Amino acid sequence: MKHPIIAPSLLAADFGNLQQAVEMVEQSQAGWHHIDVMDGLFVPNISYGMPVIQAIGKHASKPLDVHLMIVDPDRYIDTFADLGAATLTVHLEACTHLHRSLQRIRDAGMKAGVALNPHSPVSLLSEVAEMADLVLVMSVNPGFGGQSFIENTYRKIEELRKLLSERNSQALIEVDGGVTLENAHALVAAGADVLVAGSTVFRSDDPAGTIARLAAAGQK
Ligand code: DX5
Ligand code: ZN
Repeated sequence: MKHPIIAPSLLAADFGNLQQAVEMVEQSQAGWHHIDVMDGLFVPNISYGMPVIQAIGKHASKPLDVHLMIVDPDRYIDTFADLGAATLTVHLEACTHLHRSLQRIRDAGMKAGVALNPHSPVSLLSEVAEMADLVLVMSVNPGFGGQSFIENTYRKIEELRKLLSERNSQALIEVDGGVTLENAHALVAAGADVLVAGSTVFRSDDPAGTIARLAAAGQK
């Protein structure tokens, strides 16, 4: 079994010591920085915006994996490209013209990601599968860290893996929400390529060691 990419979610970091958190991720086995942007409309919470992401970027050399939980994300595609996002993920539920949004993200030089809320079936992606470089499967309802993993996610990942191969899509499958040392192995076995982890990493006594253990979990 292959090694998953671990993307620690900075939402769970101590914002008073953000530089330290970014440097920990840089020195760890993590592959990406996961950056959650919430607008208080698409989700019932507000996280952080452009100045904070700019500050994160100054200390990061690993790719910035930006997850937009905002309405009408097309408004900010160019802004996130300028901020150095490597992957920009928009929610299917927030896009009236998802096909155009994904195209615009690629045109701006970023990898295009699409996220699915727990209630959205995988089949809604059938016409855009080839246009996505990443599909983010929400395994909690978006808006907050520290929630419990929704068990249906395993079946959803398996269905998504099938759909992507039928459509010849190379998109990576990312799982976000409630990822732990206990479920990491089963998620990779179901077909996940990227594991986002917030509380599991940042609430641990040894964040870098926990990242290494999450990475190893996929290989057992
Ligand atoms: C939730 C965010 C997640 C969140 C995950 O809306 O998209 O990235 O930070 O946090 P944990 O890993 O604590 O569930
Ligand atoms: Zn996220």
